[in-house]
Amino acid sequence: MQITNNYSFHGELTVPGDKSISHRSIMFGAISKGHTEVTGFLQGADCLSTISCFQKLGISIENLGDCVHIYGKGLHGLTAPSQVLDVGNSGTTTRLISGILAGQCFESTLDGDNSIRRRPMKRIFTPLSEMGANFQCWDKESFPASLTVSDSGCAPFTVRGGQLQGIHYQSPVASAQVKSAVLLAGLYAKGETSVTEPVLSRNHTELMLTGFGADIRSYGTTAVVKPQPTLEGQKIHVPGDISSAAYFIALGLVTPRSEILIQNVGINPTRDGILQVALAMGADITLLNKRIVSGEPVADILVKSSTLHGITVEGEIIPTLIDEIPVIAVMAAFAEGTTIIRDAKELRVKESDRIAAITENLSAMGGSITATEDGMVIEGGRPLHNANIHTFQDHRIAMAFTVAGLNAAGEMILDDRDCVTISYPSFFTDIESLTK
Ligand code: S3P
Repeated sequence: MQITNNYSFHGELTVPGDKSISHRSIMFGAISKGHTEVTGFLQGADCLSTISCFQKLGISIENLGDCVHIYGKGLHGLTAPSQVLDVGNSGTTTRLISGILAGQCFESTLDGDNSIRRRPMKRIFTPLSEMGANFQCWDKESFPASLTVSDSGCAPFTVRGGQLQGIHYQSPVASAQVKSAVLLAGLYAKGETSVTEPVLSRNHTELMLTGFGADIRSYGTTAVVKPQPTLEGQKIHVPGDISSAAYFIALGLVTPRSEILIQNVGINPTRDGILQVALAMGADITLLNKRIVSGEPVADILVKSSTLHGITVEGEIIPTLIDEIPVIAVMAAFAEGTTIIRDAKELRVKESDRIAAITENLSAMGGSITATEDGMVIEGGRPLHNANIHTFQDHRIAMAFTVAGLNAAGEMILDDRDCVTISYPSFFTDIESLTK
């Protein structure tokens, strides 16, 4: 797509299903008894990786596009995979499935793409090993031809499950992937399992597992699960992904003469930091038709062009917008004044080092940005020009910089536009639909 800057954006759209909720619907359906039907499922590459892993674990899953049928076999119905489980680019698949595999009496080996092979897994190995599972990493250069032991703490790795013991885990990071891995292992453990986080991360696991019949409770930043529940198949409707809506929120705000209605977006308070930040920056955003769907709060989001000003984004709000920081940085570049982002060191270990990726690309476009160890400082209001954008094959970098490019002089070149298929396959056509 040639990205030019002559448009304003008008109209309505529905963004694809929430990635976090889509992953969990497959996983929890697989370990429940009976039929789970999922509508609004995200047909992105990451969620397809989750489907394929559970198929290799003996679960029958019928993917009919917008509707997915999972024929669950109960907590103890998975069977040993005969092949490596390919998690693709998906950190959520890798970490959550490891919690489930920790409770199985067989071995599984997981591997993924070059990005996954760099992402830290010790954060799940530590608590899951304490519960009784065993992990071994393999040298990625020689894998799978030979299994040479490595202490990389990254994929590829083998998990050998076993009889688990419940623990209390004080997580050093606010990570829903770590929390969920431990809670899922807790379903298989002897005794209660609990996780306390430094700051509350997204709580889709807690909400959805409750719907499936688990005894799981939250007390502030602690979640507690009781073992061996009878999980029953459910009907799940996945709301639109606020992380995908974020690009259209930013596009509507920073593009003059624009008005966009984004329908059916999940606004769970553990995910809605983008809305809080946009409002604090002076955004004209209205939430319409608020409702609850499959236990999750949902609304339609009306966005109008706005004059934004810089703010400081730090502390407890960070986990609620961690995936939106690339596009928040773009909004900051169009805002008057300084935006400071702190406490976001986790960005260094996402699909790419997002602090480095944002800094390189915004600088290339003429923006004023200084990277810090755990965030960045952006002086907004500089005129941006298009540039060769280095996506690092990171979907969120590609989409955030498309928003910037649509409001900058000249023609933007993304070095890899296909990476958007990870979370938003129809991203470019959805943008085009708003220019008509
Ligand atoms: C996710 C949790 C977050 C987020 C990721 C999806 C999830 O990661 O960045 O895109 O579905 O649990 P962390 O748990 O590592 O913060």
